[in-house]
Amino acid sequence: YLTSYLSLYVSSRKHAGLEKEPQFREKYFSQTVDHFNFNSMGNGTFSQRYLITDEYWKKSHGPIFFYTGNEGDIWEFALNSGFITELAAQQGALVIFAEHRYYGKSLPFGKDTFSIPQIGLLTVEQALADYAVMITELKEQLGARDCPVIVFGGSYGGMLSVYMRIKYPNIVAGGLAASAPILSTAGLGDSTQFFRDVTADFERVAPECTHAVRGAFHQLKELAERQDYSRIQMEFSLCKPPSSVRDVRQLNGLLRNAFTLMAMLDYPYSTQFMGNMPANPVKVGCKTMLSGPDLLANLRDTVGIVYNSTGVLTCFDLYSLYLECADPTGCGLGSDSLAWDYQACTEINLCYESNNVTDMFPPMSFTERDREFYCSKRWAVVPRPDWLQTQFWGDALSAASNIIFSNGDLDPWANGGVRKSLSSSLIAVNISGGAHHLDLRGSNDADPLSVISARKTEADLIAQWVKMERTRLTQSP
Ligand SMILES: *[C@@H]1O[C@H](CO)[C@@H](O)[C@H](O)[C@H]1NC(C)=O
Ligand SMILES: *[C@@H]1O[C@H](CO)[C@@H](O)[C@H](O)[C@H]1NC(C)=O
Ligand SMILES: *[C@@H]1O[C@H](CO)[C@@H](O)[C@H](O)[C@H]1NC(C)=O
Ligand SMILES: *[C@@H]1O[C@H](CO)[C@@H](O)[C@H](O)[C@H]1NC(C)=O
Repeated sequence: YLTSYLSLYVSSRKHAGLEKEPQFREKYFSQTVDHFNFNSMGNGTFSQRYLITDEYWKKSHGPIFFYTGNEGDIWEFALNSGFITELAAQQGALVIFAEHRYYGKSLPFGKDTFSIPQIGLLTVEQALADYAVMITELKEQLGARDCPVIVFGGSYGGMLSVYMRIKYPNIVAGGLAASAPILSTAGLGDSTQFFRDVTADFERVAPECTHAVRGAFHQLKELAERQDYSRIQMEFSLCKPPSSVRDVRQLNGLLRNAFTLMAMLDYPYSTQFMGNMPANPVKVGCKTMLSGPDLLANLRDTVGIVYNSTGVLTCFDLYSLYLECADPTGCGLGSDSLAWDYQACTEINLCYESNNVTDMFPPMSFTERDREFYCSKRWAVVPRPDWLQTQFWGDALSAASNIIFSNGDLDPWANGGVRKSLSSSLIAVNISGGAHHLDLRGSNDADPLSVISARKTEADLIAQWVKMERTRLTQSP
């Protein structure tokens, strides 16, 4: 996952919860299917969804805050990014949340969208071109030609914000890239980093907690070696007994995935984003892991925090709660998971492993070779691990400007991103005690001071860029 969600639980509008809900209107934009080939799809277009609110906009003058949608239903992001509307209220901005092609309701080929070759028009480049075209045309329609545009995004959406600024500086004046792992996904990471950092979050709460997790996985391994499948079924409340090495691997993946989600979503208050999470889920998870002498029961109940948050599951179904895919941190569920799997098979590198040495999880490798094998079988594609770095500059960003890279130190994605400022306009912001793009969320009484201060820094920089861009736009001939 970078930020795809558990679509099982999504009824996002009802779940707006703690965040103030702005009055977004849902609209569709007639978008070019293929920006880069004038023949293959002819003049084909598809309906791309976007959300818009002008309730804070100083008409024809105030800036445009444009969220570069990522791998999921756009409502999910709009309802969990209250900072953007709060900032719009302060700075008189028009707010647009655009849905990424192939996700949510923005499906270029209807029910054939995820077939081969139709899936082939799902690329980062096409998505960026969608946003560039949409911004340009909407500015025209709305009489907003002289309004500076600032892009916002979290996670993969933050990567897209970075790329928008470096590819379309003619259109975009600056970007806030929250929790954007632009280095690791470009192949500049270390394959052990992600699960090491997930482990570190639990270690930080209590070292005994990680010992208990290791102990539980060790017991599971012993049961699996004895092929005591009925005991495994009983201990983990599985709907069906596992019956193969593959089933046990699936179980390990499902278990590990719950820890990934608790670490990413370790917010100080309860949330309904990518499923339901209690406040401080890592703490809650550790408490559960240490709740009694039966480690396997504790592990089952700990993953229940994620998969059984509604308390209605009578058993865990191995293959419907978690999908193994080209992203070892998870692809989510539903049709969005197909699109993300394809992206992880093509441009986005996510070869993370767990090894039971630098992390607390069972050894589960996922090498570049494994990825190639899987992707050629699943999608008939061979990944190009170097392409993202070539196309979007990797860590050689010195020619870029006006980008904020914010990261929370609790977020396992953080160390795949830019942690140090690279120039006076490429600013790294550290959010101590912050999980995955906490800064994009609306203000909350439980916010740590670090995120309040990060949002202030972000607001000031954005106001500066808007001012500079307005001068440029109004002075150009
Ligand atoms: C695209 O539109 C033009 C102008 O209407 C038309 O002449 C052309 O045949 C169309 N191309 C394709 C491949 O459909
Ligand atoms: C789900 O939660 C409910 C309520 O706590 C519990 O009774 C049930 O056993 C849980 N299901 C599983 C599979 O653990
Ligand atoms: C993790 O490593 C320990 C120490 O080598 C070993 O005893 C344990 O079985 C391993 N656990 C798993 C799940 O492989
Ligand atoms: C943020 O924290 C990381 C890790 O602690 C550190 O390496 C980095 O220098 C910090 N960056 C900034 C901008 O303070």
